[in-house]
Amino acid sequence: MSFTRRGFIKRSATAAATVSFLQQLSADTCGAATSPIDFGMGFPDDAIRLNRNENPLGPSKRAIEAAIEGVPKSNRYADSILLRSLLARHHGIDEEWILVGTGSGELLKLAPLVVARDGGNIVSPLETFRTTPSFAEKLGAEVRWKKLRPDASYDLDALLAAVDDETKIFYIVQPNNPTGTSLSSDDLRKIADALPKDVLFVVDEAYIHFMENGASGIELLEEGRTNVLVTRTFSKAYALAGLRIGYGLGHPDIMHQIARFGCGPTSTNMAGFGAAVASLEDDAHVRKSRDYIRKTRALYERELQKMGLATIVGAPPFILVEIGDRAKQIRDALVEQKIFVRHGGEWDLPNHLRISYGLEEENQTFFSALAKLL
Ligand SMILES: Cc1ncc(COP(=O)(O)O)c(C=O)c1O
Repeated sequence: MSFTRRGFIKRSATAAATVSFLQQLSADTCGAATSPIDFGMGFPDDAIRLNRNENPLGPSKRAIEAAIEGVPKSNRYADSILLRSLLARHHGIDEEWILVGTGSGELLKLAPLVVARDGGNIVSPLETFRTTPSFAEKLGAEVRWKKLRPDASYDLDALLAAVDDETKIFYIVQPNNPTGTSLSSDDLRKIADALPKDVLFVVDEAYIHFMENGASGIELLEEGRTNVLVTRTFSKAYALAGLRIGYGLGHPDIMHQIARFGCGPTSTNMAGFGAAVASLEDDAHVRKSRDYIRKTRALYERELQKMGLATIVGAPPFILVEIGDRAKQIRDALVEQKIFVRHGGEWDLPNHLRISYGLEEENQTFFSALAKLL
């Protein structure tokens, strides 16, 4: 048997994408890619991808043009310094208070590396996005998981009661993934007031652009608090997940410590740099995404209610739906029809599915597939 180079690249790319995809979804219905460069990342061409909280509308035209402009210049390293100063201006904050990362995920891992690498504990809601707590756990820290209340709100009393002398991080997602749960400015202040000054309060704001005037940890920074790290991303409202740009805001002391380990000048790339700058100047696209998500949320609530299903919903671009003990089975059956949604097991919600909103036709296909499976 002879291997052409082209065929080899195609086979390895397809195999690698398929393996990671299978690991991600524990499903075995991945279709074969038809190009050696498979931008479908191992998903079948006609897949309906409602599983990763991606923005279905895609990046703004201006962001795409800027990214394309950056590609031929990619023989040079991109430098996040310029983006940092633009972000500083955008937030009306000094640039010492900002660090740019390869997605906000970089900051969410570096925070525990900086403050919890010698152990201690971190306090986190249980039903939440787990990069920071899981990373802390891998570093040897204890994670004090606290369940949400039955109405899916954060149990602030339980969370704060878990804080002790060994606590390094208090983690909150505002608004939460996968429940959409959010806090008011008073709640954020209540937490900040209650935490000892040496506990880092990490406020993950990946979805905050989807809230109308959502309370932000930035308000705490404006009050001069030194133990708050706010993380933001271009992946969601700006629809640049594949370009990997995020950033953090915090007191220069904590930012200097984080910068010892990462979020350096080369954490970004030319295409992403261009797209991020153009996106910051294109508020209209963020508004368009927010409006689309608001409209789609109402549609989902209506359609799922018609099927007699209970939902948990907030501002972000996804909905959590209670299916019961057949949730995983139904997820698998949807995957067989190339409709990819997320089973809630990974957030201790085994009876739920999390559906990221898609384009109109994709949503309709999902509704009819789900209705037939119930
Ligand atoms: C709550 C939350 N924070 C952070 C991230 C990571 O985003 P990024 O693409 O900026 O690494 C995600 C991704 O889904 C998320 O849901």
